[in-house]
Amino acid sequence: IVEILSTEELTEKKVLVTAGGTQEDLDPVRYLGNYSTGKMGYNLARVAQVEGADVTLVSAPTNLNKPNGVDLVEIKSAEEMYQQVMELQEEQDIIIMAAAVADYRPVNREVQKIKKSSDELRLELERTTDILSQLGQVRDDEQVLVGFAAETEDLLANAQQKLKEKQADLIVANDVSASDIGFASDDNQVTLISEQGQKKIKKANKLKIAIQIFNEIMQLAADKE
Ligand code: CTP
Ligand code: CA
Repeated sequence: IVEILSTEELTEKKVLVTAGGTQEDLDPVRYLGNYSTGKMGYNLARVAQVEGADVTLVSAPTNLNKPNGVDLVEIKSAEEMYQQVMELQEEQDIIIMAAAVADYRPVNREVQKIKKSSDELRLELERTTDILSQLGQVRDDEQVLVGFAAETEDLLANAQQKLKEKQADLIVANDVSASDIGFASDDNQVTLISEQGQKKIKKANKLKIAIQIFNEIMQLAADKE
């Protein structure tokens, strides 16, 4: 990767990235999922690794290759992601929640395959733990905490609210309604939102976006010192 960050500020920093869409089992052959492919998170992990960071990638199932030199922790459900992230969070300098974490999971995971019977089947769902919010509550001041906001409407207002409610340092606001950017696409077009204000990043591939996100993170880290 060329034209990366100008400094060596990431060297030996501990960086945790989550990626992919979690899968919530309904029965042995079915799950509830989402369209996240993990590309944004994997690019973030790759950039951090190339820049000399000690990177852990907590990943939901994806079709992507494991980035070289990264500790890969594979999980499936929101609950498993939560457990792994909480175990690793304390030692991290930077945590980036790029994963599309399920908000709800089935109350029951059926042991046997659900058979079709009546014309209608109602699923009972319960809320998962909001990992980013938990991280916002337990972290210390030096840690940089980054979240994403996937929105199909009122992008900036909703993202601004997530910055505050989840006590993050940075929210990467992502319009997931457009098909040429966001989920599943190689390109993305995001707005970076912090207490300092909003910065619109022009449409680019996810590797370039990842580099710009780290540039912003390093500025926020410097401001904390
Ligand atoms: N997130 C999380 N744990 C969850 C749900 C979301 O850590 N159970 C994180 C995501 O990884 C992302 C941020 O919270 O960094 C925002 O996710 P998003 O789905 O945009 O927002 P929600 O807070 O879940 O609210 P909603 O889906 O209702 O917009
Ligand atoms: Ca959500």
